[in-house]
Amino acid sequence: MKLKTAILAGLCTFFATGSIYAADPYPNKPITLVVPFAAGGPTDAVARLIAVPMGKELGQTIIVENTVGAGGTIAATRVARANPDGYMLFIHHMGMSTAPALYKKLAFDPMKDFEYIGQVVDVPMVLLGRKNFPANNFKELEAYIKVNKEKVTLANAGPGAVSQLCGLLFMSREGVELTTVPYKGTGPALTDLLGGQVDLLCDQTTQTVPYIKDNLVKTYGVTTPNRLSALPNIPTLDEQGLKGFDVKVWHGMYAPKGTPPAVLDKVNKALKAALNNPEVKARLAESNIEVVPMSKVTPNGLKDHLEAEINKWGPVIRKAGAYAD
Ligand code: MLT
Repeated sequence: MKLKTAILAGLCTFFATGSIYAADPYPNKPITLVVPFAAGGPTDAVARLIAVPMGKELGQTIIVENTVGAGGTIAATRVARANPDGYMLFIHHMGMSTAPALYKKLAFDPMKDFEYIGQVVDVPMVLLGRKNFPANNFKELEAYIKVNKEKVTLANAGPGAVSQLCGLLFMSREGVELTTVPYKGTGPALTDLLGGQVDLLCDQTTQTVPYIKDNLVKTYGVTTPNRLSALPNIPTLDEQGLKGFDVKVWHGMYAPKGTPPAVLDKVNKALKAALNNPEVKARLAESNIEVVPMSKVTPNGLKDHLEAEINKWGPVIRKAGAYAD
């Protein structure tokens, strides 16, 4: 009798799934979340912060893996070529929208090779100097770099990184060219700024707020049009003369093209749950990181934004002739 029931159950499974084995529900093994910059940096920090509650929601561990280099394009290529089974996810910032114009040869197409899970957070940036840098405020910085431009170093996270774009914008507004020092992420760049090995860095607020508050760095201005609630005493670059200076870093979560809709839906629900988690929200608020409205934490919310950003940045980058190798 038992055998008959088992055979019947097997046949039901076969007709329902096309296989004699019932498909295990997703996820039944750990998931990899690829971060395109070095550990200890802002993208890495956001990924690690949301990976734990997302994993709890999905009932599986999410392992964060850093695949670094070439402004995030090595990681994006890796994910674009991965098995579309939901076990490899990707978090990247607005570099996903600047890469098609910045890189003459790109091994992936942001609009064709990915599924979209949702936008994640928006993060402002701050222009920082090493603690013992001679300029004590923005006016002194402007005066100093005019006279000493050959010896001033400006760190960034490589071609296509937002720290590079922010630095390029700053230099073009000041009409100076400083020596840029590329790192694999602003995590290691910030370590060197704190150690006094580089002079300046434009970084996201994710990791920098405590160092700013403890005066372990010099802070010359925030890159958004309005002051930040986490750093109310730091003036904007706009109010100090760089009118219209406006850089804010958006982030999105992706999966390889062809990932099944039911899997994307589960991951999207887990992402929303993580972003609504009170501990995550409190930690994000400390760093002035904004969770985007839930209507944007959706596949179309990300896809439409990515497309608009590609169309916004493409002409700007091509006009400036700023290309990466
Ligand atoms: C960037 O400058 O693009 C980011 O800060 C990179 C990072 O997360 O390290």
